[in-house]
Amino acid sequence: MSVDHAELVHFEGTINQGLSIEPDDWMPGRYRQSLVRMISQHAHSEIMGMYPEANWISQAPSLRRKIALLAKIQDEAAHGLYLYSAAETLGAQRSKNESELRNGRAKYSNLMDNAATSWADVGAIAWLGDGAGIVNQVSLQDNSYGPYARALQRICQEESFHQRQGYEIIAVLAKGSAAQKEMAQSAIDRWWIPSLMMFGPPDSLSSHSEQSLRWRIKCEPNEVLRQRFVDDLVPQIVDLGLNLPDETIKWNDTRQSYDYGEIDWQHFKDLVSKGGFQRAERLEARTNAWYEGAWVREAALARNNQLRKAS
Ligand code: 3HC
Repeated sequence: MSVDHAELVHFEGTINQGLSIEPDDWMPGRYRQSLVRMISQHAHSEIMGMYPEANWISQAPSLRRKIALLAKIQDEAAHGLYLYSAAETLGAQRSKNESELRNGRAKYSNLMDNAATSWADVGAIAWLGDGAGIVNQVSLQDNSYGPYARALQRICQEESFHQRQGYEIIAVLAKGSAAQKEMAQSAIDRWWIPSLMMFGPPDSLSSHSEQSLRWRIKCEPNEVLRQRFVDDLVPQIVDLGLNLPDETIKWNDTRQSYDYGEIDWQHFKDLVSKGGFQRAERLEARTNAWYEGAWVREAALARNNQLRKAS
């Protein structure tokens, strides 16, 4: 048995026993690359997830709503940082990751390229978008790479608060005036498909699912997670007295799940390759934030250097 083959057998044995791979362990190049790709894209999505809602901080309808929204947006920034750190343990330089995001070479979840045009959108992003994120990431907490799995435990706790505050925004609007209910309905209708797309394409169209499932980089197929999200959300939407965002949604007694409409995967492919509606604005905002924040990074580094010299 060659050394590499023996290492691979040991590596796959570790994964099959449900144990973690840690940064210093031997791992196949393809495992490392796949994790760097996925963790980096996840980090970028968290960072870009701040933008659709950020415009609403100054227009939040009450002080309480403003505080909750600010906390949520700050959490998203922190999630991005935990994840860039997890990617660094695999050799992915944070500065390279950040510059690839700014120059448009990196991928991130296409949901973040949509515009939040009403206060109800802030609720729908958190309830549906973060809700989809949680279903996916709770499953990923059992992934085989230790630093990513540990980062996800913390992220999931915080995402649950995000989803809850989004639900509450929509629940209040759904019980409000006719105009408020209409605003909530319109937001649910517009954010439904982007949220379903957060689970990625069907596994038959996914270039990564098969290998990622085998190495527990992903723990469950995209379709299984998407269905779980639909089954969780449909009764809640009905409970709030809102219409379902897809008229083909119907309980299927045989499958004990809801059937739902086919997603336009060609449109998804175009969005992933060309970017969504607000891609250019989002990248410009990210680039401006990077340059405007330069003094903070410089000050932190100067302080670090001072401490190092003193020790
Ligand atoms: N938007 C943009 N790109 C998407 C996408 C989406 N909604 N869904 C999938 N893609 C991309 C994939 O990144 C992949 O691109 P690549 O081949 O160039 O790397 C391609 O489409 C094919 O998809 P696959 O299913 O084959 O790719 P994966 O096996 O990586 O599965 C995934 C996609 C399910 C998103 C998986 O990467 C994953 O679970 N990632 C970790 C979690 C994550 O990143 N979630 C994104 C949202 S972050 C969030 O929830 C923030 C919250 O605050 C809203």
